[in-house]
Amino acid sequence: MSSTLRTVPRLALRAPASAKLSALRLPAASTSSARTLARAYSSQQQRQYQLPRTRKAGTGGILGVLAAGALAGWYFYSKQQDETPAWKKVNYQNVYKDIADLLEDENYDDGSYGPVFVRLAWHASGTYDKKTRTGGSAGATIRHAPESEHGANAGLDVARRRLEPLKQKYRNISYGDLYTLAGVVGVQELGGPTVQWRPGRSDKQADACTPDGRLPDAAQGADHVRDIFYRMGFDDREIAALVGAHALGRCHTYRSGFDGPWNASPTVFTNFFYTELLENTWVPKKWDGPKQFVDKPTGAFMMLPADMAFKTDPRFRTYIELYARDQDTFFNDFSAAFAKLLELGVKFPEDAPTYRFKTLD
Ligand code: HEM
Repeated sequence: MSSTLRTVPRLALRAPASAKLSALRLPAASTSSARTLARAYSSQQQRQYQLPRTRKAGTGGILGVLAAGALAGWYFYSKQQDETPAWKKVNYQNVYKDIADLLEDENYDDGSYGPVFVRLAWHASGTYDKKTRTGGSAGATIRHAPESEHGANAGLDVARRRLEPLKQKYRNISYGDLYTLAGVVGVQELGGPTVQWRPGRSDKQADACTPDGRLPDAAQGADHVRDIFYRMGFDDREIAALVGAHALGRCHTYRSGFDGPWNASPTVFTNFFYTELLENTWVPKKWDGPKQFVDKPTGAFMMLPADMAFKTDPRFRTYIELYARDQDTFFNDFSAAFAKLLELGVKFPEDAPTYRFKTLD
């Protein structure tokens, strides 16, 4: 390759706009600088440039300059793209909408993936330990064994599989962002409060998985629930607000061993967890499965032993009563506590914006 040829791309890369301009002007202007450019782009020997300029030579030069301009434009565009962090290349409103489109399926459970998306977001985040600053949604380690196989996470592969096509569609979104955003969509699209959310989590590999036992054991009581949630940095009021998510969804014998929904509208976000807990009479379920409670009148609804602790523990009960009589306060408190949960342990980029997504019509 001649030295002339090597100079050209550099010239063009530095000044793509002016190179293009020169190219456009070239046929009319036969200034020496225009000639230099034309020559620079030619693959011909220099002596050919000493011949009188022909129409053919001029066209070749123009095409060359145009090509270099295009090349330079492409170079600058791709360089800029490379330097943009992956999380900034995603249109999160579009992801929100696509997740919302995945919710409904009349053949799945009660007709919506919303509840299991909320549970996925919570289990991806609720491994956080504020002392060691490990766990949380930042690494999305819930998708790796052994964490994916911890007993508490049984059944969440269903939610991850449902979301996977969106990870393929939006290659630049992290799993941590996708799973937590799915929780936001689940809450909002099922009628719950707006939950503010930020992007920018980066994924980690299996060696960052948290040890088993960081999520609550449904068979235990108030002390255990406090141990688990205090470790994450929540207080009693926040814990009482978070567990109100049990208005959504149901227990599955083939996942947790427990059975049934908490109320009659498991695909609508309400304060019914609290009203049912306080107003219904709960008796132990007569069966071979783990200890759980069912409502005395119908036996159709359930409470976990850990849920019952919120009724019997006096400090938790204050908030249960508050949320049972005041849905707005519950919605406000849940929104704040859930947003906090999804951000535990995440070091967001300084310029990560906060989103408040509009629900779909
Ligand atoms: C005391 C703490 C908690 C305990 C012991 C607990 C336990 C459980 C259990 C055993 C299930 C049934 C899983 C299955 O069989 O499919 C479940 C489901 C669920 N949990 Fe919790 N949970 C707790 C707190 C929370 C929190 C803080 C949230 C969210 C903010 C939440 C959201 C959900 C949802 C939405 C479901 C339904 C999932 C579905 O329908 O597939 N839970 N929980």
